[in-house]
Amino acid sequence: MNPTDIKIIGLSASPRAQSNSRRLLENVLAGARFAGANCSMIDLSALNIRPCSHCDSCISDGLCPIADDMELVYNAIEQCHGLVVASPIYFMGLSAQLKLAVDRCQRYWAYRNATGSSVLSQALYKRRGIFVGVGARNTESVFAGALTSMRWFFDSIDTEFYRSLTAGNCDRAGEVDNKPEILAQAYELGVQLAESYK
Ligand SMILES: Cc1cc2nc3c(=O)[nH]c(=O)nc-3n(C[C@H](O)[C@H](O)[C@H](O)COP(=O)(O)O)c2cc1C
Repeated sequence: MNPTDIKIIGLSASPRAQSNSRRLLENVLAGARFAGANCSMIDLSALNIRPCSHCDSCISDGLCPIADDMELVYNAIEQCHGLVVASPIYFMGLSAQLKLAVDRCQRYWAYRNATGSSVLSQALYKRRGIFVGVGARNTESVFAGALTSMRWFFDSIDTEFYRSLTAGNCDRAGEVDNKPEILAQAYELGVQLAESYK
């Protein structure tokens, strides 16, 4: 595959300026860009996304009747080869900004579950997903909830859970800038993701 045809989207789920998770996401995208991929980022906290209302209409048509900025995220998922999702850990799970978007992807899961077929799986390529998580604490359990959610999320959007990158002990805004090893790991992950399509 021609590197410039590889489309990688980053979803940033932190609301704060000098976000640690967004900084790592930017590094993943910088690495992927270096390897030739076409990268862009969506800031979920800047979007107006309403929660899933569990109306169940997606079970029959695979669509979501709620008209809001989630359309941007749906388009990104449907058109990308790689999806890099970055979130702070909030109460041992995903940030609310990310949870809103994840729940609204129920339309993909529900339709596939009901019909056995998926709009997404018709794609010519296998999407690959990366999760980047940042938390103040540094125990394994800090990331367990978010990783479980992301595993099911990626499966629901017919995306292989390619890798995850977690940074604990990282609380103050911009603190990750003092951690060159994890910044380098993020960059390398982006290179590997882009090169995995060649
Ligand atoms: C509402 C809220 C809940 C949080 N819950 C946790 C938590 O359960 N575990 C943890 O390790 N850090 C927790 N944190 C700390 C953040 O994960 C940490 O500051 C992280 O660096 C934020 O990433 P960001 O800069 O990308 O927003 C919480 C922070 C906030 C504001």
